[in-house]
Amino acid sequence: MLVKEKTLKLQSGVQLFCCPNLEPKSPRILLSSGTTQEIELVDDRLKYRSGAFVPQEPWREPNFTESNLLRMARINSSDRPWGLGSDLGVCRFPDRVLAPIEAIIEPLERQFDPTRESYKQLSRSIRSHRDYQQAIAAITDYLPHYYLYPHQPTNIGVYVGQPGLRTVTTDLDSSIDSTTRYHIGMHLDSHDLFPLRRRHRSRNRICLNLGREDRFFLFINLPLMEIFKALNLSDPEDIFQHYRGLNLGYEFMKLYPSYPVIKLKVAPGEAYIAPTDNLIHDGCSVGQQSADINLTFLGYFGI
Ligand SMILES: [Fe+2]
Repeated sequence: MLVKEKTLKLQSGVQLFCCPNLEPKSPRILLSSGTTQEIELVDDRLKYRSGAFVPQEPWREPNFTESNLLRMARINSSDRPWGLGSDLGVCRFPDRVLAPIEAIIEPLERQFDPTRESYKQLSRSIRSHRDYQQAIAAITDYLPHYYLYPHQPTNIGVYVGQPGLRTVTTDLDSSIDSTTRYHIGMHLDSHDLFPLRRRHRSRNRICLNLGREDRFFLFINLPLMEIFKALNLSDPEDIFQHYRGLNLGYEFMKLYPSYPVIKLKVAPGEAYIAPTDNLIHDGCSVGQQSADINLTFLGYFGI
């Protein structure tokens, strides 16, 4: 069925909170010109799954109204409780906490030759280093600074990816070729597999940039239930047809192709906190020359 495209300006939705001690250089936020399914492939080895969406270039800085819509005006944490499924943050980990993992990554990355080894191999070398568990422990000991309440987070582990990717997440499509990884584009995670009505209660993630260069978190600034409403769907009439809401993001990007994707800079040593089970998102390593390295935990985090 042919979808009639509509225009929608940036809406108020996700609120972004940046800790005061972040790297101040270059803009923190850029907005895309919308999303597109017309994906130019610059590298034969990188394929996109059919139907995937990526941000449409060019990127621009937000205007005053858009900046105000995106940023949380929070003086202190007692003013407004952190919204697990709707708030996003960027924070910086102290150098002393990151020093042990950096001591592992730095020499391995310096010796790494991407023409002879895969990024997966670099990832394995980092994870199998004899001091790895101790280095991770130094970070997990610091994580309670960002707990919404005491709990046991899940360590997803260190990810090492290729630099220069407009979106980083891949899927293994074994039906075509078990070794080919397809990029999935802007997507929704389903770690907790909650239904749409409870998506906002899913665990969020904290994702630390352990690479040498800036990386980016891409997102559409509307929690999934807001996307449901923007599609003129209502609860309870339409909710069971969209029980987990897995297709809502695709329908939204099809209907509103000019709705911007937010590109949030995460500098080395910084982490973002985001409800990725409730937000259309991806990572981005465009502009990097060296390996894209990050470490992720799932849990209940906030600033
Ligand atoms: Fe994801």
